Formats: sequence, C-alpha cells, structure tokens
Amino acid sequence: MNNYGNFNLYDVLQSERPEMLIQHAKPFSELMMHYKCAIQEVETKLNVLNNEYSLVYNRNPIESIKTRIKKPLSIINKLKRKGFPLTIESIEQNLSDIAGVRVVCSFQDDIYKLAEILAKQDDITVLEVKDYIQNPKPNGYRSLHLIIEIPIFLSHKKKPMRVEIQFRTIAMDFWASLEHTLKYKKQVDNPEDIAEMLSSCAETINDVDVKMLEIRNMINKLEI
Ligand code: GTP
Ligand code: MG
Repeated sequence: MNNYGNFNLYDVLQSERPEMLIQHAKPFSELMMHYKCAIQEVETKLNVLNNEYSLVYNRNPIESIKTRIKKPLSIINKLKRKGFPLTIESIEQNLSDIAGVRVVCSFQDDIYKLAEILAKQDDITVLEVKDYIQNPKPNGYRSLHLIIEIPIFLSHKKKPMRVEIQFRTIAMDFWASLEHTLKYKKQVDNPEDIAEMLSSCAETINDVDVKMLEIRNMINKLEI
C-alpha cells in the first residue's frame, strides 16, 4: 500500500475546480518522477555497457537511446480502454509501459547480447519478454520487448519500478517509425495492398540486417 489518494484521475482532469487539480497533481507528478528516475537508471546501465564495449571491441553496439514517459491523457485512455480503475495505484499495478526506453542497436546480435547482460544484473528483474524478431507481428513489426523491474533509491525507501525496453536495429527502427506515421493517415482504398507492401518491406529490411551482420563477421574474421 502506498499513500497516494484513491481518486479518479479522469474526474480530476475534467474538473473545473482548480484546487482539486492542485491537490491531486502532486501524487501524480511524484509517480511520474519515479518513472523518470527508473528511466535514468536504465539509461545509465546501457551507457555503461556501450562505453565498455567501445573500449574492448572498438565499436558501439548502441546507435541511440530514446526515452519517454507516457503522457497523462494516453495513460487515462489506456486505463479506460482496458477497463482498469482510473487511480494512481491502478497505473502502477496495471500498466507496464509508463516508462519507455528504446534502444536502437547496430546489429541484431547486439540486441540479444545487451538484453541478456541487462537481465543478468542483480538489481533487474525481467517480468516479460516479447521477441518480435523471432516471431514478427503479422504486419512485419520486429523488435525485442522487455518489461523489467528496477529499483530506484528515494530518501526514505527503495522502490521497484517497471520499465518497458524495446530493442531494435536501425533498420527495424526505420520501418517501425514510418509504419507508425502511416497508421495515422486517413482511410485508404486498398488497405490490403498497403499491408502487403509494408510487410514485404519488413522482410527486405530483415534480409539487409542479416547481411550486414554477415559482412561485419567477415570483416572481424579478417582482423583477428
Ligand atoms: P499495448 O501496450 O496495450 O499496446 O499492448 P502490448 O503490451 O501487447 O504491446 P506490445 O508489447 O506488442 O507493443 C508495445 C509497443 O511496441 C507499442 O506501444 C509500440 O511502441 C510498439 N509496437 C508494437 N507493435 C507495433 C507495430 O505494429 N508497429 C509499430 N510501429 N510499433 C509497434
Ligand atoms: Mg505494452
């Protein structure tokens, strides 16, 4: 049990009474701050690994790291969509993607290496793994998703926080970003054709990823 008020977030947002917003804004911002700290912890761990790799192997497995905290309105919409109570406790209990970290890697094998190393760290608990690289979504989406729990150290307590980490290659990120943008375009006449083309692009992109890894391995062999 924590000491957050058991209020209805939607009522608060809809409320015309500013004192109600002010009264409840604090526990909400506090929780968001906790998620932000958890993101920082994960980001630091990833940066440490990237630095170590760059010294030992002379290359960076991580191309870029993007982080985000889910927006209040998206949080409320997701709770409503899934039929969960609109309370602070409910956010923590029912949603695993408030804190999001996207790790864009150079090569496919880096994804699994990094995920494995993180999972082994003794302060990280892996709650869920979704391997959309081995098992791509029907539309062609590929990435490795991990839901982890990581502690943050506050002044009076240690608190485990959930973070969603998505690992992708640069090529997978390129596809996912464009596919995401295209989703929001207005109704098209030939959705099946478009879906087919997108999925075929995802295949092509995967072939390129596999070949790039092959090339890297060939070059590495020459260097030994
Ligand atoms: P929700 O989190 O409720 O959406 O369901 P879930 O937990 O089953 O989601 P999943 O782990 O499959 O995906 C979570 C996140 O991955 C999404 O919020 C996106 O960022 C990303 N993602 C999943 N599928 C797709 C996709 O088809 N296209 C793109 N561009 N991104 C996707
Ligand atoms: Mg999710």
